[in-house]
Amino acid sequence: MQLLDGVLVSGHIKEQIKQEVIDWQAGGGKKPHLAAVLVGNNPASEAYVGSKVKHCDELGFDSTLLRLPADISEADLISEVNKLNNDDAVDGILVQLPLPDHISPDSVINAINPDKDVDGFHPISQGRMLLGQPTFLPATPYGIMLMLEYYKINTSGMHCVVIGRSNIVGTPMTILMSRNGNPGNATVTMCHSRTKNLKDFTLSADIIVAAIGRPKYVTEDMVKEGAIVIDVGINRIEDATRKSGTRLVGDVDFENVAPKCSYITPVPKGVGLMTICGLMKNTLLAAKMRAK
Ligand code: GUN
Repeated sequence: MQLLDGVLVSGHIKEQIKQEVIDWQAGGGKKPHLAAVLVGNNPASEAYVGSKVKHCDELGFDSTLLRLPADISEADLISEVNKLNNDDAVDGILVQLPLPDHISPDSVINAINPDKDVDGFHPISQGRMLLGQPTFLPATPYGIMLMLEYYKINTSGMHCVVIGRSNIVGTPMTILMSRNGNPGNATVTMCHSRTKNLKDFTLSADIIVAAIGRPKYVTEDMVKEGAIVIDVGINRIEDATRKSGTRLVGDVDFENVAPKCSYITPVPKGVGLMTICGLMKNTLLAAKMRAK
C-alpha cells in the first residue's frame, strides 16, 4: 500500500506555482489576485477560506477577504459579487459554500463573471468542462487529477466508481475520469445515497472516489484487493482521546481499508491540500487570461 501524500504533492505543485508567478512578474505581469467571499461565520468555512488566503500570501498572490453578515440579502450579496466582477484588480472570485438557507447558491454563482470563476462552479465553466473545452476545473476534482498525474497512475481502462453526485465533486469527477486523456479513459460508474447494493459496484472498482460526506462510509468489505481509494470526505467526529474532543475523518474507514489498497489518500493531508492547488492554479490562469 502506498499513501497518496497530499503534503508531498501539494508542496511540489506550490513550488511550481510560486516559480510561475515569479516568471510572470519578471515578464511584466501583475500578481494574481484572488477575492474570497465569506458569508456568516460557519467555522469550517472560516477555516477553508483562511487557508486559501494564507496560501495566496505564500505563493505571491494578492488576496481580498470579503466578510459579509449571515443575514445579508441575496440581492446585496449579488451586488457585492458584481463589484468584484467590475474590479479590474481582481482576477479570481470565490464565494465560499454553503450559503445561508435564504440565499440561492445558483443565483450567486450565476452572477460571477465566468472569466473570474476560479472555483469552476459557473454553468459556463461546467458546460465547457463537459464538452472538453479549456476552462476552470472545479478545484477538488482538478486537484485529484493532479495527484493521479503526479504518481503516474495510468487509469486507462480502469473501472472508476464515484460515490457522490454533487456539482462540485462527484459529478465533475465522473466527467474528468471518463474523458479521453490521462488521467482519464476510465469506465465510470456514478453511485450516490440512493444506490441499491452499493457494494456490488465498489467491489468491482479499480478506483473508488468517495465523496458522499459520511464518516467512514466506505468499509473494508466494499473494496477489492489492490484498489486505488481517493477519499474526499472531511468529517469531524467526536473523539474523547483528543484535547479538542473531536478529530477529522474521511468518507473511508482508512484503518481497515488501507491494507487492501494499492494506493490510498489519507484524511487529513490528502485531497484537501490538493483542492488548494487546483484553486491557485485556476487563479494564476485567470490572471494570465485576463492580461491577454
Ligand atoms: N465548499 C466546499 N468546497 C468548496 C469549494 O471548493 N469552493 C467553495 N467556494 N466552497 C466550497
